[in-house]
Amino acid sequence: MRPIQIAIDGPSGAGKSTMAKLISQKLNIMYLDTGAMYRALALKAIRKGIDTKNGDLVTPLLKDLDIRISYENGNQKVLLDGEDVTGLIRTDEVSMGASNVSAIPEVRQKLVELQQKLASNNSVVMDGRDIGTHVLPNADVKIFLTASVKERALRRYNELKEKGLLSKSLEELEKEIELRDYNDSNRAASPLRKAEDAILLDTTGLTIEQVVEAILEIVKTKGLTHAI
Ligand code: DC
Repeated sequence: MRPIQIAIDGPSGAGKSTMAKLISQKLNIMYLDTGAMYRALALKAIRKGIDTKNGDLVTPLLKDLDIRISYENGNQKVLLDGEDVTGLIRTDEVSMGASNVSAIPEVRQKLVELQQKLASNNSVVMDGRDIGTHVLPNADVKIFLTASVKERALRRYNELKEKGLLSKSLEELEKEIELRDYNDSNRAASPLRKAEDAILLDTTGLTIEQVVEAILEIVKTKGLTHAI
């Protein structure tokens, strides 16, 4: 069976990871969360006291960068220099740091290479910002997932509340999302944009199940029924 590649891009908090993970489980194929790789590098920089915006200081970290993605009971684990950093890379500080390091061209070049290597010869669902445009330009299915800023902030608010980690107001979260959207869409190196052949899916007001169904329908209409 020929490998299939599904690219899911979109802004922060649109539900890309949730969808990519569920789709990969439905199709029984690999899931790669590329944002986790930018986050792991940001964590490395922050721990060394390096300004995540400073390309001259961040780029040397790429030389012996050891980021591995592994799976345990279907859950993704992120290993940085052998250490499990899965939980540590989800803080707001690391989110902003990841947005910063991802604007450095050398960082993108190195991580894209790694992502393409991981995807070669495997069926994969990959989520990120530049998957359909740069990492997997020939992907069989390209989805651009989005939702209103308000809805994305509310999802984040509820998620943090559920985890007992809420320390910000809804308005503050909205501002953070707007700032990250701006950063990700306005950087010079591979800014966030919808690939021309990507299908736009606005998830505002939709349930997780409805979005999964919509994506599986797209996979079917692309003639990739062998995957389902
Ligand atoms: O998807 P995420 O929130 O985990 O991503 C963290 C940051 O990394 C985000 O601000 C943008 C950046 N990123 C990127 O530039 N390209 C990717 N393929 C994935 C993430």
